[in-house]
Amino acid sequence: MSWTLYRHYKGNHYLRLGVGAHSEDLSPHVIYRCLYDNPEARTWLRPQGMFEEQLEDGRPRFTPVARVRLVQPEDYPTVLAFGYDAWGEGKTLPEFIASYEQSRNHLRGTRYLLETLDGLPVAGLNTLRFSACVLGLASVATDPAQRGKGYSSLLVRGVMELHRFLYGDLRFLLFSEVPPSVYERHGFRVLPAEHQRFLPSVAMATGEAPLSVEEGEFLKAYF
Ligand SMILES: CC(C)(COP(=O)(O)OP(=O)(O)OC[C@H]1O[C@@H](n2cnc3c(N)ncnc32)[C@H](O)[C@@H]1OP(=O)(O)O)[C@@H](O)C(=O)NCCC(=O)NCCS
Repeated sequence: MSWTLYRHYKGNHYLRLGVGAHSEDLSPHVIYRCLYDNPEARTWLRPQGMFEEQLEDGRPRFTPVARVRLVQPEDYPTVLAFGYDAWGEGKTLPEFIASYEQSRNHLRGTRYLLETLDGLPVAGLNTLRFSACVLGLASVATDPAQRGKGYSSLLVRGVMELHRFLYGDLRFLLFSEVPPSVYERHGFRVLPAEHQRFLPSVAMATGEAPLSVEEGEFLKAYF
């Protein structure tokens, strides 16, 4: 199972969720989700022929750019290696990859990867299901050779919007090791000092409401 990400000709990105039949005439419609904050709607429907058509000037309306899919066991060596330069801590690469076999979050998490249209994995992340409405993001990493192309941003937002579509209005948590502004564009905010236990990794969350006591406990057990 994979979900394709598209760039609309006006520049915004979307995640294609599937195709459904119109109830009145059975015509196929693509269901897709914005990867940006659109106040009008986040999930959209469009006749499949129109979704896949070319504009009068010959450009496609939507151009596929990459795919999101679940990480399979055979992907682990590739995907885990993406974070080796940042988190290797003096281990050899095989030692670093093997160390995940003892990692609680690795064992309980569900990993997703972003791959190019020809199937090359370029970025990965882990999701930690803390409760029915709280999902943690962790271990966001891009292949060093593929950085600076927008891949981790696409993967983070693609996974967030996929989960919102499937499970409703979730709160997301993460610890940022890059400037928080990178995640603020996806709706995260820096949490108050009482939640900052692992600096310089900065605790962040989506949503306006203060964290509940239970949500604060999830952050304590993050690593
Ligand atoms: C951090 C990391 C995941 C970014 O991946 P990437 O695919 O290169 O990121 P993107 O191209 O999607 O960049 C998204 C934005 O973040 C910014 N950004 C990315 N890494 C950054 C860094 N280290 N410092 C400052 N800004 C950074 C980019 O400039 C870009 O902003 P822009 O759109 O305004 O140019 C990648 O450098 C990496 O794997 N690092 C090692 C692991 C790590 O530290 N993970 C961080 C977990 S929070």
